[in-house]
Amino acid sequence: MQINRDRLVADLETLASFSDDTPPGISRLVFADADQRSRVWLKAQCSDAGLAVREDAVGNMFARWVGARPQLAAIGTGSHIDAIPHSGKFDGTVGVLGGLEAIRALQQGGFQPQRSIELLLFTSEEPTRFGLGCLGSRMLSGGLTSDADARLKDAEGNTLAQLRAAAGFQGSLDQVRLPDGYYAAFVELHIEQGPLLEKEGLPLGIVTSIAAPAALRISIEGEGGHAGGVLMPDRKDAFCAAAEIVLAVEERALATGSIDTCGTVGKCQIYPGAVNSIPSRVEMDVDIRDTDEQRRNRVLREIEQACAQVAARRKLQVRVTPINADAPATCSPRVINALVEAAEENGLPYKKMVSRAYHDSLFMARIAPVGMVFIPCRGGVSHRPDEYSAPQEIETGARVLASTLARLSQV
Ligand code: GLV
Ligand code: MN
Ligand code: MN
Repeated sequence: MQINRDRLVADLETLASFSDDTPPGISRLVFADADQRSRVWLKAQCSDAGLAVREDAVGNMFARWVGARPQLAAIGTGSHIDAIPHSGKFDGTVGVLGGLEAIRALQQGGFQPQRSIELLLFTSEEPTRFGLGCLGSRMLSGGLTSDADARLKDAEGNTLAQLRAAAGFQGSLDQVRLPDGYYAAFVELHIEQGPLLEKEGLPLGIVTSIAAPAALRISIEGEGGHAGGVLMPDRKDAFCAAAEIVLAVEERALATGSIDTCGTVGKCQIYPGAVNSIPSRVEMDVDIRDTDEQRRNRVLREIEQACAQVAARRKLQVRVTPINADAPATCSPRVINALVEAAEENGLPYKKMVSRAYHDSLFMARIAPVGMVFIPCRGGVSHRPDEYSAPQEIETGARVLASTLARLSQV
């Protein structure tokens, strides 16, 4: 079985050319033009590989290599192609195009799967458009009901219902959830998005668990006014309150004493947004994650308390709305074992590790035995334009993925 490295690298470059950012930056907002063009191109690649393609109502794409025993539960693989603003070309895409290349390599090597092998492209793993990550996999696993159609909106107020219809995805969201036992296993290839593999000189990480993510929306309502006319003691500056809350997020995440707790305020909007106007309102999104769900929940509560204190002291309104608070996932010993065997068969050293980033596998683990394999990325950099994994590293990931899919598909 031979991975065609040049074809895989060329595919990654082609996908990177569908972007709303200036190279090397990548932005691909779900259902926007670049995402739509990527989907058309990817569908053609899958059809060329002889895969049977279908899409569900939220735009998850399934490309199936039908096995000799198609009645058996399939083996899934895949990831996402949407990209946060000003990011890189490897996050998610390596799992989708590496999965496609793994299938093509197995086909060209004459392999005949017993179980079908299915490549997935998940809709909106990134929270950019709807504020909520893992939209597609969340729905596949039953973690989101059809009221999301009206409830989820983008910054312009377009609903999920409107946006998916405009993108050509029809039908009720109730039909998205996969039936129990649809997949016998699911495996995702991804860049590490951290520095450990590179530091330790290892080509592979085999994931044992995925940390628990959560997000809060914090809305602060103060009082606007003239930046010269309203004197300092009389102000209710919403952004000054926000600044205190941002520092409280950092402080509470650090205060757990565990390196596994992370707190980030990555999104903040100030209204009305003029240099000579006191901020009347601030909206920000806070990301809290931890390998320990209880500890993460404690930090969430502490941030809520800090918000209440800031509101009382500054005499303004602070509203905290939970966006999501997801449980962590444990990878399946059987899938981990298949990955270990595949690594060993290829003579590749690996380490077992936790994923601190979240992935669609977090939700696939609710409905199937799941495993993930990481490849190194330079300097551990991700969610930045200089994100990079070398062709050799990507090829290695695809090869191990192919061996793993082959193993899992034979039972
Ligand atoms: C995924 O993109 C994450 O933020 O972990
Ligand atoms: Mn990402
Ligand atoms: Mn990703």
